[in-house]
Amino acid sequence: MNIAVLCSGNGSNLQAIIDKVLDGYIPAKIALVVSDNKSAFALERAKKAGVETLVLDPGDFDGREAFDREVIKNLRKKKIGLVVLAGYMRLLSGHFIKEYKDKIVNIHPALLPSFKGTHGIRDALEHGVKVTGPTVHFVDEKLDNGAIILQKAVEVKDADTEESLLGRVHKEEHKIYPEAIKLFVEGRLKIVGRKVKVKS
Ligand code: GRF
Repeated sequence: MNIAVLCSGNGSNLQAIIDKVLDGYIPAKIALVVSDNKSAFALERAKKAGVETLVLDPGDFDGREAFDREVIKNLRKKKIGLVVLAGYMRLLSGHFIKEYKDKIVNIHPALLPSFKGTHGIRDALEHGVKVTGPTVHFVDEKLDNGAIILQKAVEVKDADTEESLLGRVHKEEHKIYPEAIKLFVEGRLKIVGRKVKVKS
């Protein structure tokens, strides 16, 4: 299966996925890395791994759907079977979500459905939770709402700052995202209502 990874920033999750494709854990090819930010470090990581990249500037397009149509055009060319959002800071249009229905996954740093949005870890910390952690989920029309594939609990310590907590959450992200992608690629995920069943 060909997969595409969409990133806007550092790309540490992209790196974890690249590593797990290279060592054979994920039986798929990363056929394209797409970014809406030409300065994203994720692009360097992709290039270093010999993965093709595509940078599109949202300013060059007349709205969200026009941008997404261009992305889709490129994904089709590569016969992409799974779209992986990894720190992609753009909301997808309804058109994109329909086009790749049940074939788009995202990772969120907090235990959904708590603390949706851009500052999941900061919000969780400010709320005083004792446990948080990353969630991998399918993407549907609503923000951070789709069926949950995997989650991992991370304990919050009294002395935690956003940075220290994020560091431990990221470590877990880098394990569960490749795992979820592997399960998808192997055809072992089945969405049943709000639940994702994992076939053995
Ligand atoms: C991760 O914390 C992820 O949960 C969130 O964006 C961040 C991306 O980090 N969606 P990176 O670019 O993969 O390092």
